[in-house]
Amino acid sequence: MKQTPETIVLLNFGCEDIQKFARAIRDRHIYTMVMPYTVPAERVMQEAPAGLIVCADDGVPARPEARAKFDALKLPTLDLTGGIGGKVDDAVEFCKAKCGCTGSWTMEKFIDEALADIRSQVGDQKVVLGLSGGVDSSVVAALIHKAIGKQLTCVFVNHGLLRKNEPEMVQEIFARNFDMNLCYVDASDRFLDKLKGVSDPEQKRKVIGKEFIEVFAEAAAKVDAPFLGQGTIYPDILESIPLDGNPNGVIKSHHNVGGLPENMKFKLVEPVERLFKDEVREVGRMLGLPSELIDRHPFPGPSLGVRHVGAIERSTLAMLREANAIVTEELTKAGWYHKTWQTFAIFVPVKTVGIKNHQRSYDYVIAIRSINSVDAVTAQVVRLPWELLETMMERIVKEVDGVNRVVYDITAKPPGTIEWE
Ligand code: XMP
Repeated sequence: MKQTPETIVLLNFGCEDIQKFARAIRDRHIYTMVMPYTVPAERVMQEAPAGLIVCADDGVPARPEARAKFDALKLPTLDLTGGIGGKVDDAVEFCKAKCGCTGSWTMEKFIDEALADIRSQVGDQKVVLGLSGGVDSSVVAALIHKAIGKQLTCVFVNHGLLRKNEPEMVQEIFARNFDMNLCYVDASDRFLDKLKGVSDPEQKRKVIGKEFIEVFAEAAAKVDAPFLGQGTIYPDILESIPLDGNPNGVIKSHHNVGGLPENMKFKLVEPVERLFKDEVREVGRMLGLPSELIDRHPFPGPSLGVRHVGAIERSTLAMLREANAIVTEELTKAGWYHKTWQTFAIFVPVKTVGIKNHQRSYDYVIAIRSINSVDAVTAQVVRLPWELLETMMERIVKEVDGVNRVVYDITAKPPGTIEWE
């Protein structure tokens, strides 16, 4: 990977918010990287940094032996071992005054460099990419496509657990608007047959994951590409590095996509592996991806599968899909979609008595969950307006056959998880 000029390396000596700090300095157009204090000095020098910032939370013990190897590099160094809180301006000033940074790192520049890198890495060969419709894989698809056009083939697997209109939306955007080679595989029946009678949450995840790899591998084999595009982003890499880990293991080595058969050895193309999520979104916007895709709520890989409690039937899955679409539609209409981190419906396999069309009914329950979070590690319940919840309830009960009751989940995380399974 080519070095980005004017790189500042933040050395993590025990600093909880170091990713946010790195991101805030990048917002001022100075490119930063985060490395643990256990990193070998040679690894730091591979990035040809213009300067170092030593970061620790107030009260974290000093580590003079670790400091010595960085001091020996004789690079301009800012010491923030007393805590980074409120120090973004100081850091930017240091980068400009002491390290010669011009503050010219922009997303336009990133895109230009990424396009050149992809072209030189791939040459005239083919790339295959698994498109999920999520932000990261979508942005990587748009970026690689801009670089090499029809040399890229995207594989979009419909596992039957997608949200309403999702397969249509992804095909509309990529195959039609972007004129991309898109291989759409409708494997719904295959997945739903395999999931028949499976009610244990972990088992469901395993079935979905294993089947997904198989379907993707079959489709990818037909493309016969030596390269695999992946939507790895910077936090994926940072979070896989232990602060106190083995210094030789500090750089994540990706050899292959998790679980692909041994005989499918791809070389990886990961053009956004040094970007934070918001930066990936910005690249996506600049490449012309629509907001409905870029600014969508996070959605788990096993999809509606883990929002349908218990064994999945086609009929009850259809109820969940419809109810979820109503929740999203009303949330958006009321201007609340972007005020929440995730808001969705859950299918509860419990039948209760009710009255529908003036007759006794005995039908299923849909739960609504709306949470806010910063990092999904903890979450708070959103107090959606009562009127909005009532509108959702009225529409679900009226429009979704088989459902006669709607409840609101008021459980924070912890003690609850965000998903029900
Ligand atoms: P939990 O339910 O663990 O969810 O509080 C935390 C965040 O992770 C998402 N999530 C998943 N994402 N595969 C994924 O890709 C999964 O199996 C999975 N389970 C949970 C969830 O939507 C939330 O944002």
